[in-house]
Amino acid sequence: KVHSEIQTDIVTLTRYLTETQHALGSTATGDFTLLCHALQFSFKSISYYIRRATLINLVGLAGSENKTGDEQKKLDVIGNEIFVNSMRSSGKVKVLVSEEEENALVFQGAGKYAVVCDPIDGSSNLDAGVSVGTIFGIFKLDDNAEGTADDVLLPGTELVAAGFTMYGASANLVLTMKGGNVNGFTLDNALGEFILTHPNMRMPKTRSIYSVNEGNSLYWDSPCREYFDSIKYPTKEGAKPYSSRYIGSMVADAYRTLCYGGMFAYPADKKSPKGKLRILYECAPMAMVMENAGGQAVDSHMKRMLEVVPTHIHDRSGIFMGSYDEIEKVKAVFGKHQ
Ligand code: AHG
Ligand code: MN
Ligand code: MN
Ligand code: MN
Repeated sequence: KVHSEIQTDIVTLTRYLTETQHALGSTATGDFTLLCHALQFSFKSISYYIRRATLINLVGLAGSENKTGDEQKKLDVIGNEIFVNSMRSSGKVKVLVSEEEENALVFQGAGKYAVVCDPIDGSSNLDAGVSVGTIFGIFKLDDNAEGTADDVLLPGTELVAAGFTMYGASANLVLTMKGGNVNGFTLDNALGEFILTHPNMRMPKTRSIYSVNEGNSLYWDSPCREYFDSIKYPTKEGAKPYSSRYIGSMVADAYRTLCYGGMFAYPADKKSPKGKLRILYECAPMAMVMENAGGQAVDSHMKRMLEVVPTHIHDRSGIFMGSYDEIEKVKAVFGKHQ
């Protein structure tokens, strides 16, 4: 065949969503599909502006701070606006929680979903051109939900879908649905479509890579110290120490962990007793991706991350996540101290 190399039967995100909706039969109204279409548009737009940032004066600080105390970059503000406008206009969202919005946004209309998002994760890396991304989670609200922030103070086990993008050498989208597998899509800039390039992503069960901000080790508690020492200074005859990889964008560190295996942690410590990463729009969506790819995610008390219920929309938690057996090792060391 002359064009045997050319793929002509491509699964785009649009096709994937349509097929998933059809597989659900008449129970599916198409609302979720339309919501995902709005989501993917926001990912494409954010990716576009990030790639053009240095050309159109979008680098640097916006001069403001968000509710969690982060200095906002110009792109944090723009990414948030893109996301908010896209969710509002979809008509499918009642409540939206964003890292960059102090309060939950409530939209009028028939929306029955709540969306939680970190519009740009890793924004301290933006001006250096290092990979950043968008994290999102979707809850389906009860019919009698009032449309307040309280509607989303739910454990991650209630998420109907979650995922993240990573704007790296290409724009990658990782998407998972409740009880489903994890699928990876890559944006084809020419077609303007996310293409299914990584169907059914499964994390290796074990891999000797650790990913943590080692600069915080002064503040770690003794179980944390003992765990990291155990992988860096193995005592078993012939055992090699782990490799260290830390990008400082959770999306990029998580994407590598998904692809190669290993573990990523942002532990609670003496400086950040509740951890740094935020439960609703950072920890829970990532935990769902990790679990559905065969891995695990727990908080600093070794509790399953997906069962942690935030008391406030911007609540934080420590997190350890990654390959199944790597998180078992974390639990074993912390277990000795309990
Ligand atoms: P954000 O840019 O959305 O505020 O999130 C930053 C997070 C996360 O991306 C990353 O894992 C972590 O902060 C890095 O923190 P340190 O610089 O403290 O290591
Ligand atoms: Mn931030
Ligand atoms: Mn973030
Ligand atoms: Mn962010």
